[in-house]
Amino acid sequence: MPSKPTAASRLVLLAFLLGMSAAAGHDDAAARRTMEQFAGFPASDDGDGGPSSDFRVDSEGLQRQIAELASFSDSPAPSVTRVLYTDKDVQARRYIKGIMNQLGLAVREDAVGNIFGRWEGSEPGLGAVATGSHVDAIPFSGKFDGVVGVLGALEAISLLKRSAFLPKRSLEVIMFTSEEPTRFGISCLGSRLMAGIEELAQSLRKVVDNQNVSFLDAAESAGYKLHLEDLPSVFLKKDTYSAFIELHIEQGPILEKEGIPIGIVTAIAAPASLEVDFEGNGGHAGAVLMPARNDAGLAAAELALAVEKHVLESGSIDTVGTVGILQLHPGAIGTIPSKSHLVIDVRDIDEKRRNDVIEKIRRSATQISKSRGVELSEFKIVNQDPPTLSDKSVVDAMEFAAKQLNLEYKNMISRAYHDSLFMARVSPMGMIFIPCYKGYSHKPEEYASPEDMANGVKVLALSMAKLSLE
Ligand code: GLV
Ligand code: MN
Ligand code: MN
Repeated sequence: MPSKPTAASRLVLLAFLLGMSAAAGHDDAAARRTMEQFAGFPASDDGDGGPSSDFRVDSEGLQRQIAELASFSDSPAPSVTRVLYTDKDVQARRYIKGIMNQLGLAVREDAVGNIFGRWEGSEPGLGAVATGSHVDAIPFSGKFDGVVGVLGALEAISLLKRSAFLPKRSLEVIMFTSEEPTRFGISCLGSRLMAGIEELAQSLRKVVDNQNVSFLDAAESAGYKLHLEDLPSVFLKKDTYSAFIELHIEQGPILEKEGIPIGIVTAIAAPASLEVDFEGNGGHAGAVLMPARNDAGLAAAELALAVEKHVLESGSIDTVGTVGILQLHPGAIGTIPSKSHLVIDVRDIDEKRRNDVIEKIRRSATQISKSRGVELSEFKIVNQDPPTLSDKSVVDAMEFAAKQLNLEYKNMISRAYHDSLFMARVSPMGMIFIPCYKGYSHKPEEYASPEDMANGVKVLALSMAKLSLE
């Protein structure tokens, strides 16, 4: 009678299967060594439901799912536009829940629509190992940002199931609500709430989108009828997760340029976003002479250039600043803008340096309002988040996985923010990057190859397996 597999033996078996897959692929010697090392464990099973002899990602299926998800879009292909709580977002949510159900995961949603698919482990009382990302897409972006970390995570679970892996700690896939700030100006809305940020729960009382629809009404239209008192129910309880790993495209050019298939993220840069409003008198574009004007549009233009100047003054290539939204009111030919609205994004891996830039932007906004005779009616720091570090235990697991798979990897910083930035507040965190074409992201040309994605899925699957047994 075979003895019950121990946690360690299950991990050894998995590593053995990986050795077999390397043999099928490119490195026979490594596979032989792995087989010698793990001799005594079955290599394969002849169809009685046991492990298969390879550890292969269903790339075709994954690519098909990515294409299907991309069809839920409010802009024409190849671009994708999927904004929080719109019909397309709801369709995408349904699609993800469908796959979770097919995989036999226990599906639940919290009050704001973070979606969880759980594979119960043999010790369900222990903190689970979680993975996940987002499927909302900023206007006219691509099909991979976030999506690789949700569909890829579900494929990682499927791969572990096909390999007859039995988790000790439960494994969970999370689809986060609104990583992108498109609709309400708040990035990582779902994961911020999960991290228990009280001020966000407060500010959600007041926020409206650009059509004046409140957060609560938007949520209700997507099927999430909630009351403000329900928001704290989203906060995660301590020790819910023993580890969180996010798989994501790099969104920068480094991995592709250096020909390295896997990035292991050690830190995430600190993002901030600001909203600024100027108000002037407006008036007729012909009749009001230049000396008599106080043009809110020119104040905005001057501030946009000041943002660039202050960012460059930091002297570091790591400081970046972007005016992503610049709106003029009434926005008509023949009318001097009476109001302007800017949304400014500033990031750095050094929090103090980033904050110094924000201070300089504040001073410039005040000085411009004086010199142009316009009112600075709003200067709001929407978020000013600290950077975060990956946890050594998770980095170790990801490095172990990459080594087992004979995949070269590079430790690197994420300059883009991710839900991981907030998950790190409630769980040990790590991220796996895969290369993306020319570093393109947030545009329709965004592309990651099926091979790179399969590598990322395997590293994720093995890292989760390892962490599940710890
Ligand atoms: C996330 O989408 C970011 O802009 O960093
Ligand atoms: Mn994004
Ligand atoms: Mn993303």
